[in-house]
Order: sequence, then structure tokens, then C-alpha cells
Amino acid sequence: MAADTTDRARDEHEELIDPIAERPGFDETQSRIAVLGHPIHAMSVAFPVALTFCALGADMLYWWTGDTFWARAALWAAGTGFLFGMLAGFSGTAELLLVSGIRARAPAWTHFIIAVTLLALLGANWGLRLYGFEDAVLPYGILMSALCVCVVGFTGWHGGKLVFDYRLGTSKGS
Ligand code: HEM
Repeated sequence: MAADTTDRARDEHEELIDPIAERPGFDETQSRIAVLGHPIHAMSVAFPVALTFCALGADMLYWWTGDTFWARAALWAAGTGFLFGMLAGFSGTAELLLVSGIRARAPAWTHFIIAVTLLALLGANWGLRLYGFEDAVLPYGILMSALCVCVVGFTGWHGGKLVFDYRLGTSKGS
């Protein structure tokens, strides 16, 4: 009786097939947008991450000192953070669409959605400063910068999960 149950459980288990994992190319996740094997996306994401933090830092220093220099620095950090973010986004999107094992995995698409949300916020943070960069800082500029820092942290953490947990960008397949 116990053996019957075990056999049935094993048969049922063997019937479970993941149709996504069965696709040819599922295990091929090696980066294609790369220079000598080094993924351009991984190299470029450091810039928007750092510049987003710089924008918040400059906003806080403007709030503290009232010096116009810091409001101008925040404008530039927000703008260049957005533009470098778009560059990082293009390389990431190319990986997503061109590499079969990355395209097949749901977490890669989750990362795409989080990242596009981030890019919209970075663009808005820059845009609101274009019509008066000093007036824009308090309160909306600094609040937007703080939100962008939270979302860029989440995006970067999730990108790291793709590489270190799911091994995306690393495997030539078996
Ligand atoms: C907009 C579309 C984006 C897509 C489709 C995308 C896709 C990917 C993919 C597929 C990976 C796995 C590694 C690889 O294949 O290169 C990855 C890693 C990563 N992504 Fe993105 N990404 C996007 C935007 C961003 C942005 C805007 C940021 C942050 C500013 C970001 C941060 C990261 C980080 C930190 C990693 C880990 C890199 C490493 O440690 O090697 N991604 N992304």
C-alpha cells in the first residue's frame, strides 16, 4: 500500500514538465551585448546609480546651504543620470530580446518593468528642473530624488539577483 502510494507520487512527479524550461536555448544566457565577454549593461549601470545618489546629495546640500551651485549640480546630476540610465536601458533591453535564455525567464521581464519605472522617474526628476532649477528643489525636487534613490537601489538589487541567483548573462548553455 505504502509502495503503491510512493509509485503513484513518483509517476505524478515525472509527469510535471515546465514547458518554458523545455524550450531550446533555455540554458543559453550568455551576454551578447559585450566587449571581449564583459557585458556592457553591467558596466554601464554604475553611472545612473551613482548619479542618482549625487542628485539627492546635491539637493540636500542646496537645502542646507542655499547655495545656487548645488541646485545647478542637482540639475546636471539628474539629467546625466537619466541619459546614462537610458543608455543602460538600451543595452539591457537588447540582452533581453536577443538572448534566448534571458528572454524566456520571468525575472528578466520583472527587471525590465522595474527599470522602465525608474527611467520614467529619472526623466521626471530632470524635467521638473528644466523650468527653474533652483525653485524646483524644495520640496518636489528633493522628494523626487529621494524616491529615485529608493527605486534605483531596488533596480540594482534586482539586477544583481538576475546575475548571482539566476546566472543570467553568464552561461553558454549545456
Ligand atoms: C530598461 C531595461 C533594462 C533591461 C531589459 C535590463 C536587463 C538586465 C539583464 C538581462 C541583466 C542580467 C545581466 C546581463 O545579461 O547583462 C541585468 C543586470 C543588471 N541590471 Fe538591468 N536592465 C535594464 C535596465 C537597468 C537599469 C536602468 C539599471 C540601474 C540603473 C539596471 C541595473 C542592473 C544591475 C545592477 C544588474 C546586475 C549587473 C551585474 O552585477 O553584473 N538595469 N539587467
